[in-house]
Amino acid sequence: MLFDFDAPISRENTNAVKFDGRQYYFGTKDVIPAWVADMDFAVPECITRALQERLQHPVFGYTLYPESLYESIIEWFWRRHGWKIEREWILMAPGVVPSLFAAVLAFANESDGVIVQPPVYFPFFSAVTTNRRKLILNPLREIDGRYEIDLEHLEMCAQQGAKLLMLCTPHNPVGRVWTQQELTSVLNIARKYNLVILSDDIHCDLIYPGNTHTMLGKLAQPGDRIITTIAPNKTFNIPGLGLSALVITDAVQRNAMKQAFETLHVGNTNPLSIAAFEAAYRGGDEWLYELMIYLQTTRNYVSDYLLKNIPQIKMTKSEATYLLWLDCREMGMSDSQLRDFFIQKCKVGMNPGKVFGEAGAGFMRLNIGTRKAAIEQILLSIDDAINK
Ligand SMILES: Cc1ncc(COP(=O)(O)O)c(C=O)c1O
Repeated sequence: MLFDFDAPISRENTNAVKFDGRQYYFGTKDVIPAWVADMDFAVPECITRALQERLQHPVFGYTLYPESLYESIIEWFWRRHGWKIEREWILMAPGVVPSLFAAVLAFANESDGVIVQPPVYFPFFSAVTTNRRKLILNPLREIDGRYEIDLEHLEMCAQQGAKLLMLCTPHNPVGRVWTQQELTSVLNIARKYNLVILSDDIHCDLIYPGNTHTMLGKLAQPGDRIITTIAPNKTFNIPGLGLSALVITDAVQRNAMKQAFETLHVGNTNPLSIAAFEAAYRGGDEWLYELMIYLQTTRNYVSDYLLKNIPQIKMTKSEATYLLWLDCREMGMSDSQLRDFFIQKCKVGMNPGKVFGEAGAGFMRLNIGTRKAAIEQILLSIDDAINK
């Protein structure tokens, strides 16, 4: 291995939400942080080098998006995902969550329906409700610890006059990589009912061996209305730099998104984010290759450990991302009891499943994007609290 993912790095007192936000979120600092979706690993050197180079120039004025940035996106998605993106399809954006909110403004009028598939990353809900659009829930179906899209129910949701479907692909928190067949079925429903699809592919590079991620945008035919959000933020652990991109094949939707951002005047970015973004897509392949080996080892370790020592907690089969979805229903606790148990007895800070919607009741989300030693400590401490 070229990269040392076991190297201890203290993130305390760096204003990191995951560490310095513990008191606020858990009511105590005394928990091992395994919540917010960033990793505790140093970014690839190509990123720090690009940032250092940019820092050599002492002026940080308003900045344009250089053509080389767009090229880095086009090359990455061609090289890694076999998706041929045209330059004009790309819009830069100030993060994926702002893009979810902007899409709701752009494609649904007030009180129009927007379909969301819980359990799902919580801003999917708030993007709809804070903008006073109607939330239409199409819950995923859990079958033997694996989740599927309920296509029949999705069609019923579409019939309720929904304008937009917000798809999380791969899915946070259930860890599914939707197959091309599943995506095609979703796309066919969207075609039939004239739905716009916001495809949040932010986790698209964090795929475990044995699974193939298909970019929904790659399946687009002329006339399809697909808005794809992408970013190197999760892949290369730079979410604090807050820059993302949208790929929109159809000019009408592209203009609608542009306008939504313009009404909020949020088109600007900073030169450091641009430097890091481009460097990641140009030079991060090897780091990512090793990261996925490391995460896979940790994921398998968690799965084996639970099976052997804490069978009351069942890990949902994870096909992508460093976020594991733990089924704790057999522990027989209410959601507030579960939350308190993990904080007070185990001293582990995870996201309670219920923040991902009612369908997350009885679950916890564990972030394994950290040193294996920390994960060992987390499991030991849960094991002790439950079994000793
Ligand atoms: C599905 C999904 N979308 C978006 C984000 C956050 O994106 P950003 O930080 O670019 O707003 C996350 C972070 O956890 C996520 O899991």
